[in-house]
Amino acid sequence: MLSYMSAKEAAEKWNISQRRVAILCAENRIDGAMMVGNMWIIPSDAEKPIDKRTVRYEKEHQITLKPFVKWVGGKGQLIDELEKMLPSGGERVLTKYCEPMVGGGALLFNVLSKYDFAELYIGDINAELINAYNVIKKDVERLIVRLKEMQMVFLPMDENGRKFYYYSIRDKFNSVVLTDETAVEKAAYFIFLNKTCFNGLYRVNRKGQFNVPMGAYKNPTICDEENLLNISKVLQNVTIVCGDYSLSKEFIDKNTFVYLDPPYRPISETSAFTSYNADAFDDSEQIRLSKFIDDIDATGAKIVLTKCNKELKTYGFTNAL
Ligand SMILES: C[S@@+](CC[C@H](N)C(=O)[O-])C[C@H]1O[C@@H](n2cnc3c(N)ncnc32)[C@H](O)[C@@H]1O
Repeated sequence: MLSYMSAKEAAEKWNISQRRVAILCAENRIDGAMMVGNMWIIPSDAEKPIDKRTVRYEKEHQITLKPFVKWVGGKGQLIDELEKMLPSGGERVLTKYCEPMVGGGALLFNVLSKYDFAELYIGDINAELINAYNVIKKDVERLIVRLKEMQMVFLPMDENGRKFYYYSIRDKFNSVVLTDETAVEKAAYFIFLNKTCFNGLYRVNRKGQFNVPMGAYKNPTICDEENLLNISKVLQNVTIVCGDYSLSKEFIDKNTFVYLDPPYRPISETSAFTSYNADAFDDSEQIRLSKFIDDIDATGAKIVLTKCNKELKTYGFTNAL
């Protein structure tokens, strides 16, 4: 004889809301579910449908967050593919999110818009980028005031005026040392330069000086106030670390989803696209990373790495193959 459970019992068993169970029944996603009176009953042995929307930590109300900077190697276009790899209701529960080479955070902001991980860790070796994340987290109002001022000055200017202003901000960015006192100012310069420079590149010379020329955007949004305020709210729950990805090892355990998106190996000595900082991500860096992945794989964490096939084979990313 078939036995049934109520929507409430199914919700408890599957660790999702009762409302979600009712939606799944109404969508015909649970074999054998029936409406009796005004209540759903579900066969006791029914499997919870695998569905990325039933992620255990799905937020009740989604907000839209966008990366606050354009970043070379940003994975905005891969989001749909990457999202499929996030924990779904049918899999084991992953409560922690770790992205130790976060860059512009295309996946991070998608995750923060939609899911409630209990603990989150982000990091990057680029000190100016991490300063901007920290300032958005702790001092967003002052940052917005400063960005609005810069936007009001820059946008009405003609091309010569804009050039003069852009290069004066670039000089200040390169000469002002990052300290607690200059943190907001430097974050404002950093975002301004990112929004107005050529292609949103972040490239530095061997001395670590930002050297990207001005871009040709007609009407760049320098201060996206609403997005910055939303980001600030969600970052309150995020640990932000400036430094090498290996520092995240302490954080990672079997309940952690880890996303690694390292720079590509430079194609030539002069290739600029790994110059997010003055040290290029060369052969020895690639090998060190593959060893780190072996290490954290031993914890049982779920690891996603984005890399081109050729590099996977060359550097022995064995666990990824
Ligand atoms: C391809 S980008 C990440 C892009 C990011 N997924 C996005 O959506 O914008 C690689 C990042 O790794 C950072 N990085 C390079 N070497 C690092 C290291 N040893 N430890 C931590 N981060 C590093 C760079 O500063 C850069 O932001």
